[in-house]
Amino acid sequence: MPTRELPGTTALVTGASRGFGRAIAIALSSSGAHVVGVARDRVRLEELRAQLGGTFTPVTADAADPVVAGQLLDEHRPRTLVLNAGAAPLARPVHRHTWQTFSRNWEVDVQHVFNWTREALLLPLEPGSVVIAVSSGAAVNGSPLSGGYAGAKATIRFIASYAAAESGRNSLGITFASVLPQLTPETELGAAGVAAYAARQGADIPAFLDGFGPPLTPEQVGTAIVDIVTGPGDGRDAYLLTAAGLSPMQ
Ligand SMILES: NC(=O)c1ccc[n+]([C@@H]2O[C@H](COP(=O)([O-])OP(=O)(O)OC[C@H]3O[C@@H](n4cnc5c(N)ncnc54)[C@H](OP(=O)(O)O)[C@@H]3O)[C@@H](O)[C@H]2O)c1
Repeated sequence: MPTRELPGTTALVTGASRGFGRAIAIALSSSGAHVVGVARDRVRLEELRAQLGGTFTPVTADAADPVVAGQLLDEHRPRTLVLNAGAAPLARPVHRHTWQTFSRNWEVDVQHVFNWTREALLLPLEPGSVVIAVSSGAAVNGSPLSGGYAGAKATIRFIASYAAAESGRNSLGITFASVLPQLTPETELGAAGVAAYAARQGADIPAFLDGFGPPLTPEQVGTAIVDIVTGPGDGRDAYLLTAAGLSPMQ
């Protein structure tokens, strides 16, 4: 497969107001794409617009709303779609969850990946388009203080691989992949998770992080997403992501 160029193309990133999504939007913009960033926090999106200028279009919306997915894909037809939005799980052991708190990441993270993936296949996006869903290392390792988070993120990996197979079966030429970042304290969601696991171990946060090695930064996530989008492709549909970089998964 040839390498892909970003200048002159549109990328759409969900959850672009902070954390990984913000860094992904900046990396895609720096590589020449016009970026449409979707999130609910209008103020943070406007701050990013002030930083990136006319190369960034902020859209204040709930990414889990199926109408939002349909409308924005119809309007923007992005060549790059990054499904990154995710709810911060309530950090409690399983028996302290209710079904509503346990299923939060299914209602937000999974529902949004399902809706946008479905729309991308039905439209369909142009051949050569790339859709990346942000899963988590928790999809492999579990996350016992995060309710249904790990299972939700495992399902996101499955949805991306099912969509990759459908794209192939129907000769759509759309690449679907998932990325599984390791836990990092460098975002609001990750910092809350690290604090919860450190407290459970009775450790302070620096001591807890000691065993982790260098933390994955949002900037590294942005670079990794650009690498997948612009790279030649290796036929894989899932990648682990740590501070050491991307590793294709079996
Ligand atoms: N940080 C980690 O350690 C880690 C590790 C593995 C995977 N991940 C995954 O990486 C993704 C990004 O996480 P992060 O660490 O960057 O978290 P974060 O700093 O909390 O950012 C989450 C982003 O998702 C957006 N969002 C949440 N619900 C939304 C909704 N209904 N509609 C639109 N946007 C929504 C938030 O924007 P608004 O609040 O403005 O809507 C925000 O921009 C998530 O899917 C997360 O599960 C994170």
